[in-house]
Amino acid sequence: MRLSNRGQVDAFIVMDVMEAARAAEAAGRHIIHMEVGQPSTPAPAAARKALAAALERDSLGYTVALGLPALRQGIADLYARWYGVDLDPARVVVTPGSSGAFLLAFSALFDAGDRVALGAPGYPSYRQILRAMSVNPVDLLTRPENRYQPVPADIPADVQGLIVASPGNPSGTMLGKPELAALMEAAAERGLGFVSDEIYHGLHYEARAISALEIGNEAYVINSFSKYFSMTGWRVGWMVVPEDHVRTVERLAQNMFICPPHASQVAALGALEATDELEANRAVYAKNRQLMLEGLPKAGFDKIAPPDGAFYIYADVSELTQDSRALAGEILEKAGVAVTPGLDFDPARGHTTLRFSYARATADIEEGLARLAAFMAAR
Ligand SMILES: Cc1ncc(COP(=O)(O)O)c(C=O)c1O
Repeated sequence: MRLSNRGQVDAFIVMDVMEAARAAEAAGRHIIHMEVGQPSTPAPAAARKALAAALERDSLGYTVALGLPALRQGIADLYARWYGVDLDPARVVVTPGSSGAFLLAFSALFDAGDRVALGAPGYPSYRQILRAMSVNPVDLLTRPENRYQPVPADIPADVQGLIVASPGNPSGTMLGKPELAALMEAAAERGLGFVSDEIYHGLHYEARAISALEIGNEAYVINSFSKYFSMTGWRVGWMVVPEDHVRTVERLAQNMFICPPHASQVAALGALEATDELEANRAVYAKNRQLMLEGLPKAGFDKIAPPDGAFYIYADVSELTQDSRALAGEILEKAGVAVTPGLDFDPARGHTTLRFSYARATADIEEGLARLAAFMAAR
């Protein structure tokens, strides 16, 4: 049968790394996972308890398309708690993960043939989802001196949208308030659709991340329960949209998803109360980050992006290789550490970069760093 052209998106190279790591484990090897982009902690206890109680009393049928009103209110309250922003819950859209939010946002903002700018290195699925919707992604080659984040001068004249992420994946770098404001201003002046991916908010280690909503309302702000709230597989996220876009997004959500998973919404409502547990998780990441910042340069990976947030470190390995995929393969084979080549994130330049994740337990990070140091010493 025929296949569409727009369906021919690229594979996620990290999945190949994960498969190679799985095969090595199946063959009896012990592998340290520095390739994964997810917490190893479970959903918070309060989330699981809320769901257990709901299972006893509720049929968990469809909810309304924009999500449970109590959850939308709880998310709006989070903006007051985290940023001091007074947010109308009517602007909050609960989504099937932030991935579902991208589908809604891109459908609401862009037409087939539009061009949308995004920073490279960046999360690969923006590019692939845009392509699958017949929208053309335009990579902005960000620079280390700009913390691997786009600046207004990078935005080409002929685009209809701009996507930013702070903290970014794979860089972990954040946009300061003036830098984010400058990008929002440039987007507003040109009438662009502006999307701010804030999925790693909560996972900062020095200054906290700035939300686009602290600057203005002309943005689609996307977030998720996957990362800080440690609920990747539950598939629940959210998006805040300008007031006059709510109805458009609601009609799209009704038709695309009917509603986000009801059980996961109930659990997410519980997770909003789990501050102590989540802050304890964050303390582990902070410790891991410190170990990585000391251990990676010692091992010989010393050209790294300022790791403001998330749980990644992006390293320039151009002095070691011009083929990051082969280097990642060698590290897996010889050191038993799975790491991600930069090609997923920056197709043009990722052949000289690697992403290291420190989302796992501290003991794994210590062991992984020791293996990396031994590997580099023997190389
Ligand atoms: C920057 C960024 N945005 C979005 C996502 C998608 O997350 P989810 O769909 O689980 O909310 C990820 C996942 O790794 C990510 O790194």
